[in-house]
Amino acid sequence: MEKVISGIRPTGNLHLGNYFGAVKSFIRMQDEYQCMFFIADWHSLTTHPTPENLRRSVKTILSEYLACGIDPAKAPIYVQSDVKPVLELYLYLNMNAYLGELERVTSFKEKARTQPDNVNAGLLTYPTLMAADVLAHKADKVPVGKDQEQNMEMMRLFARRFNRIYGVDFFKEPESFHFNKEAVKVPGLDGSGKMGKSEGNAIYLCDDEATIRKKVMRAVTDSGPSQLNQEKPEPIRNLFSLLRLVSAEDTYAYFDDAYNNMTIRYGDLKKQLAQDINAFCAPIRERIADFSSNDAYLDKVAAEGAEIASASAEKTLAEVRAIIGFGK
Ligand code: TRP
Repeated sequence: MEKVISGIRPTGNLHLGNYFGAVKSFIRMQDEYQCMFFIADWHSLTTHPTPENLRRSVKTILSEYLACGIDPAKAPIYVQSDVKPVLELYLYLNMNAYLGELERVTSFKEKARTQPDNVNAGLLTYPTLMAADVLAHKADKVPVGKDQEQNMEMMRLFARRFNRIYGVDFFKEPESFHFNKEAVKVPGLDGSGKMGKSEGNAIYLCDDEATIRKKVMRAVTDSGPSQLNQEKPEPIRNLFSLLRLVSAEDTYAYFDDAYNNMTIRYGDLKKQLAQDINAFCAPIRERIADFSSNDAYLDKVAAEGAEIASASAEKTLAEVRAIIGFGK
């Protein structure tokens, strides 16, 4: 079975956009591939989190992924910093990664521009650490969005270069797995674009009922349809897209008809939408609460994941050391 590995940056809580995007695809992938998921806490050090923040965000992301249905019995989930052999591979890869090519990476240039007072070496070598994450397990596929494509190209370059320098056929070039094509884009509630943390228009899986209601009731609408069967302008189309995701088919049809015959009342639509979003999120929210209050279980999941990942990485590193010329 093909090996799939995915790194998750521990940044904040999961929202509906994440759920219907990456997370739902991950849940399906764990049945079809030999998957490993990890929380990229080393990578997150580039932005200098406090120890308290780092600990909390790792725990949050672990609880939330488990609550969504990542099943550690099918796919180990581990914390990057628990798997030390990856660091050693990071060092080896850095020896053959060149300043010029690292400086040309778009996300590095972007960060260097937006945070000029913190252009650290970790930021520069982000692509080599990411390559080490994947090459340490000789994974076949990496589920990534478009924004990670350049990092994936660097990873393949480092793999090829290692093979060439040492005259071996050791690392295979990991493929980018574009699950985004099948992922559903969830719109935001501010009448435009997609749901996102930075857009400030997100409904989080951990939001309580009152918060969900407040956010939905504030959603942007217009003055209503002015013609029968007219096309829905963006803010209204967005509300219907959300309805499509969380509501029953006849509920959707009811409001669609009401829009088409111009009897719709947006207040009713929003009330229904808030109720259905809440019904969708409630069981996930309860599981998040259960997991995040169960440190013993989280520790056990992470420890078991780390054991599997460490064994896999250590096997690769033993061979890498021999190839490089360490040991007898
Ligand atoms: N760079 C990825 C992101 O920003 C996170 C990540 C780190 C990753 N290491 C990885 C993803 C290895 C896939 C494989 O989302």
